[in-house]
Amino acid sequence: MQRRQFIQNASLTALGIATFGGIKAVTRSAASGNALRVNGKRIESRIFELAKFGMDANGHGTRVAFTQADIEGRAWFIALMKKAGLNPTIDTAGNIIGKRKGKNNALKPIAFGSHIDMVPDGGNYDGTLGSIGALEVIEILNEQNIMTEHPLELIIFSNEEGGTIGSKAMVGDITKEGLQQRSQSGLTMGEGIRAIGGNPDDIQSCIRKKGDIHAWLELHIEQGGILEKENIQIGVVEGIVGIVHWEIIVEGFSNHAGATQMNMRQDALLAASKLVIAVNEVINSVKGTQVGTVGKISVLPGAYNVIPGKVQMGLEIRDLSADKIDMLFKEIERRAALIAKASKTNIRFERQANESKPALTDKKLQQTINATAKSLGFSTKFMQSGAGHDTQHMSSIAPAAMIFIPSVGGISHSPKEFSKAIDMENGANVLMQTILFIDKSN
Ligand code: GLV
Ligand code: MN
Ligand code: MN
Repeated sequence: MQRRQFIQNASLTALGIATFGGIKAVTRSAASGNALRVNGKRIESRIFELAKFGMDANGHGTRVAFTQADIEGRAWFIALMKKAGLNPTIDTAGNIIGKRKGKNNALKPIAFGSHIDMVPDGGNYDGTLGSIGALEVIEILNEQNIMTEHPLELIIFSNEEGGTIGSKAMVGDITKEGLQQRSQSGLTMGEGIRAIGGNPDDIQSCIRKKGDIHAWLELHIEQGGILEKENIQIGVVEGIVGIVHWEIIVEGFSNHAGATQMNMRQDALLAASKLVIAVNEVINSVKGTQVGTVGKISVLPGAYNVIPGKVQMGLEIRDLSADKIDMLFKEIERRAALIAKASKTNIRFERQANESKPALTDKKLQQTINATAKSLGFSTKFMQSGAGHDTQHMSSIAPAAMIFIPSVGGISHSPKEFSKAIDMENGANVLMQTILFIDKSN
């Protein structure tokens, strides 16, 4: 037996598919499923096509959720879904949902997809790969006239980058307060959902309960540099970090920058700067993979000759333990009180409504993805996700898992984000074969 054939058979055996001495002995449908491959060229050309929506004059992407570019990108995607026979609809949270019938429509659907919105000045692969890869799976099944047992659902979640809003809503975790939070587009979450065809007044209608979905899968770029550095083709995600945001408001006193002596000032920006450093020190003060960032700041009134009277900043902390996030924040608060006292300013923290809890993916699905990837001849690694994903919410209502592929240079949320066509193709093949295996196995 050739080595490649041996590896393939060994992996299929690990998957619970009897090989009976050779691949030909595998049941007909499983064998034909395994021979199926996605069209890598089509995936890459669609990545470039979608990138045009919201691209500015410098070639940078601005397809922020709820903006005109997002609306146009979604329309492009919806048209492709229609062409693929998915009859897409928009749920009340603005999620795009396409359905493909199975042989047994009494079974719960296997759902998969991702998001197509991006951060300001973002990259062309984050979310879009999982969305385009999911559509590719549907199209291959269509082209090969393959009917799965389970119905399939392709889901494109709304405003992933602004707090995984669509998936939070789908699992019933969005609050009134969350809908009133202002999004990056300038609209509130509720207004934005309405702008893309949802209905925030009836947000409950989009909720899926535990047991409504057979399994959820998301293909995604890693967004870090581990897979590339270790020369691994496929990442199997074990857990996704929790994410909490706070607005920090520092109030000092605006005064004349020339006539106010240095010891008479209540400089809000000076206090804020010390706090930024304190955040970094606190996050680094304990062992672990926790991260903390002050990623935005505005200074008022903002003039050369005026001492800053007010500063507003955004703080984010991420970790796999919610308790650790709370512990780190308490220490940041303690340091802030000391800074406020010394600088005669007032520092206030406002915890934002749309936070994400840490989540683990489904162990059985992890094993299936790993064995499927190996059966296709790919190297794999079990790993954590430092980025947030819709999958972390879906894991509360369904067995959920993620497939990662390498990000060149470990760069993401940047116009320099890039993944190779071959890696995207590999990831989409793992997604497709995993879906087919789940479909047959239970
Ligand atoms: C989403 O990409 C996030 O991790 O913020
Ligand atoms: Mn993403
Ligand atoms: Mn992202």
